[in-house]
Amino acid sequence: MIRFKNVTKIYSPNTIVLQDVSFEVEKGEFVSIVGKSGAGKTTLIRLLLGFETPTSGEVYFQDINVNETSAQRLQEMRRKIGSIFQDYRLFYGKTVYENVAYILSVEGKENEEIDREVPKILDIIGLSEKINNFPNELSGGEQQRLAIARALVNYPDVIVADEPTGNLDPYNTYEVISLLEKINKAGKTVILSTHDREIINKLGKRVITIENGKVVRDEKKGRFII
Ligand SMILES: Nc1ncnc2c1ncn2[C@@H]1O[C@H](COP(=O)(O)OP(=O)(O)OP(=O)(O)O)[C@@H](O)[C@H]1O
Ligand SMILES: [Mg+2]
Repeated sequence: MIRFKNVTKIYSPNTIVLQDVSFEVEKGEFVSIVGKSGAGKTTLIRLLLGFETPTSGEVYFQDINVNETSAQRLQEMRRKIGSIFQDYRLFYGKTVYENVAYILSVEGKENEEIDREVPKILDIIGLSEKINNFPNELSGGEQQRLAIARALVNYPDVIVADEPTGNLDPYNTYEVISLLEKINKAGKTVILSTHDREIINKLGKRVITIENGKVVRDEKKGRFII
């Protein structure tokens, strides 16, 4: 479903971020990407989304070469990937309901469908009681769950989460990771970049470790070793 083929990314002659990185992710997998700060995790995710171009090598998403496809197909592709970031990226002037509804309205969905879908998704992520609150009235974990609701609302095939628990305490981290596990159990592919040793060791899922720009380990039931 996702394939990195001999991907190298060089920003300037002395910043080789990724070097000859190859891996594949199958539909339904839960894959964690680990590596020290600056190892290239965010770059890898940006390459997948087509926000960066590899210096050499290719990135495929569902057999589309991300860097050779048309702008329109790239847009369609990004719609199939729900992204979550460390800093939530919510609309702080909109309520919980409006934050999710906005995504659907941008997609051109009718009000009727929006009114049906938003409560459904808020129920799944456990924010039904906060529907009329603003993001700054939510805990960090609740804000991140709202970000996950926004990422899920278009029924993407893949969820990509770049250090989603970086700003969260252990309890909220647990909530967010449990939610990602639940999403994965429901059949979605999940790609998680993280620094967090405990998360990795608890998940017991595949781990790709990046060190000095290279994949140094790719284990089915990985542990955190850096
Ligand atoms: N646009 C850019 N131009 C030049 N160098 C960049 C650019 N983006 C990233 N880099 C460099 O690439 C390297 C990898 O950055 P990246 O953000 O991918 O790391 P990361 O693994 O996500 O780190 P963190 O855990 O801190 O988020 C860093 O050395 C960074 O300075
Ligand atoms: Mg990063």
